[in-house]
Amino acid sequence: MITISNDMKTGVSKIDEQHMELVNRINNVTSMGMKSLSKEETQKTLNLLGEYIIKHFNDEEALQKASGYPKFESHKKLHQQYIFEFQKLKNEFNTNGVSPAFTLSLSNSIIGWIVRHIKTVDVEFGKYFIEHSKK
Ligand SMILES: [Fe+2]
Repeated sequence: MITISNDMKTGVSKIDEQHMELVNRINNVTSMGMKSLSKEETQKTLNLLGEYIIKHFNDEEALQKASGYPKFESHKKLHQQYIFEFQKLKNEFNTNGVSPAFTLSLSNSIIGWIVRHIKTVDVEFGKYFIEHSKK
């Protein structure tokens, strides 16, 4: 289970709120193993996360664009990479269900990645955004 630590706060309320929702939905996926969900229910939980990943990245990118963030393009590429990794996770689930490969990819590519991403590049953008919206 992930919780939002202080070093994951960007200081931009919209982003921080969305990160909380994102983490909730990731936690719903990780706790699936403890409940005996049907394939359909599992699929639904994964889809709920997938939809929110897209929504959140779009909103974050819109804030970056609107504030003239110079690292917008490279940040967007990272988001696209993550969407690709998530798609791979879904494919793995569709083929083999909750397999060891699924669990590994979930913890490394999905959870590990997002925590690092938030702590580094999102926090960095937060600082920029706050500075540039003061005027
Ligand atoms: Fe981001």
